[in-house]
Amino acid sequence: MSVVELADVRKSYKLGDTVVEALRGVSVSIDKGEFLAIAGPSGSGKSTLLNMLGCIDVPSSGRVTIDGADVGGLSDRELTRYRRTKIGFIFQSFNLIPVLDVYENIEFPLLVKSKLTRKEREALVMRFIEEVGLDDRIKNKPNELSGGQRQRVAIARALVTRPLIVLADEPTANLDSGTGIRIVELMRSINESDKTTFIFSTHDAHIMREAKRVINVLDGKVVGYDGAEV
Ligand SMILES: Nc1ncnc2c1ncn2[C@@H]1O[C@H](COP(=O)(O)OP(=O)(O)O)[C@@H](O)[C@H]1O
Ligand SMILES: [Mg+2]
Repeated sequence: MSVVELADVRKSYKLGDTVVEALRGVSVSIDKGEFLAIAGPSGSGKSTLLNMLGCIDVPSSGRVTIDGADVGGLSDRELTRYRRTKIGFIFQSFNLIPVLDVYENIEFPLLVKSKLTRKEREALVMRFIEEVGLDDRIKNKPNELSGGQRQRVAIARALVTRPLIVLADEPTANLDSGTGIRIVELMRSINESDKTTFIFSTHDAHIMREAKRVINVLDGKVVGYDGAEV
């Protein structure tokens, strides 16, 4: 069953007098439980595509369907709710809150999202701290962690709300290659154990190889799947 459908999605940005066509007719169907890489060089439209999937931005034309709902028909309020309940985000620059420790960073989305008791929150936070292997760093602040550890915190934070889809925009771009591979392997093992759908972007061939499926984009268009041209 597909959780995401993009049908002829186009997105253009006005830059002064010029129009930049960031996406030029992208149609993609993504199934539940996929571990999918959006691959392409810088400027090819990866972030724009992920922003459409994450309801952070809306297409200029075309249709985005997530979990059966046409998100083009939702109000801003509904979109915000949709984002909070259905989607987890992982960023290239980690985006952790510097004054909060590991536990508090992971707990944060549960505080804004849902009416859980403290005990229920604690159980979820501890489960994901263990899952990403940070049991011995619970009280540390982000600036006391390595890049790989920071990204592990971000992965736990994205997962703790039990989203339908986790979106990661170049999650390994600020990590050395060995740490980057281990981060993708961690995401992959979580994908296999709990079937969370992961969609991540990368321009790194080593990272692409870890995906179960690769969609290649270039100049705002899908140019191939898993090495085959379209
Ligand atoms: N907010 C924006 N305003 C203007 N142009 C943009 C904006 N976001 C992206 N673009 C342009 O759209 C194209 C695709 O960008 P992007 O999706 O960021 O690519 P990637 O993530 O693959 O590097 C680029 O030419 C970029 O300059
Ligand atoms: Mg980008």
